[in-house]
Amino acid sequence: MPWTQNLSVGVNEIDEQHKTWFEKAEKLFEAGKNHQAKEYIGELLEFLDSYTKKHFADEEKYMLSIQYPGYEEQKKAHILFIAQLAKLKSDFNSSGGNLMVILNANKMVVDWLTQHISNMDKKIGQFVKTK
Ligand SMILES: [Fe+2]
Repeated sequence: MPWTQNLSVGVNEIDEQHKTWFEKAEKLFEAGKNHQAKEYIGELLEFLDSYTKKHFADEEKYMLSIQYPGYEEQKKAHILFIAQLAKLKSDFNSSGGNLMVILNANKMVVDWLTQHISNMDKKIGQFVKTK
């Protein structure tokens, strides 16, 4: 589940944020696995949600600054993912802090971001190299 070199986009600022994102997701996973307090897991989930929003906003700003042609497609994917995270938060809260909910959901978000980086974010780095 950790960030690995093959996920490098080749843009330092984006790579650093991706690394932090994976660290946070891992923390959330560990907390779920170790049956830590619902309040603590809720807090981590909240943090992951706001960090994701910040990261996407920064990534979008960067894409605009280089006039990246795939901006709209990226923006749409980001919006969908933020909605998924919001659903995850509400599922967790309405389940009364069910750990299976958090562990399954955690896997889902990590898989999603891994795919997104491989399929979409890497193209940003490829584009910037041609400029
Ligand atoms: Fe992205």
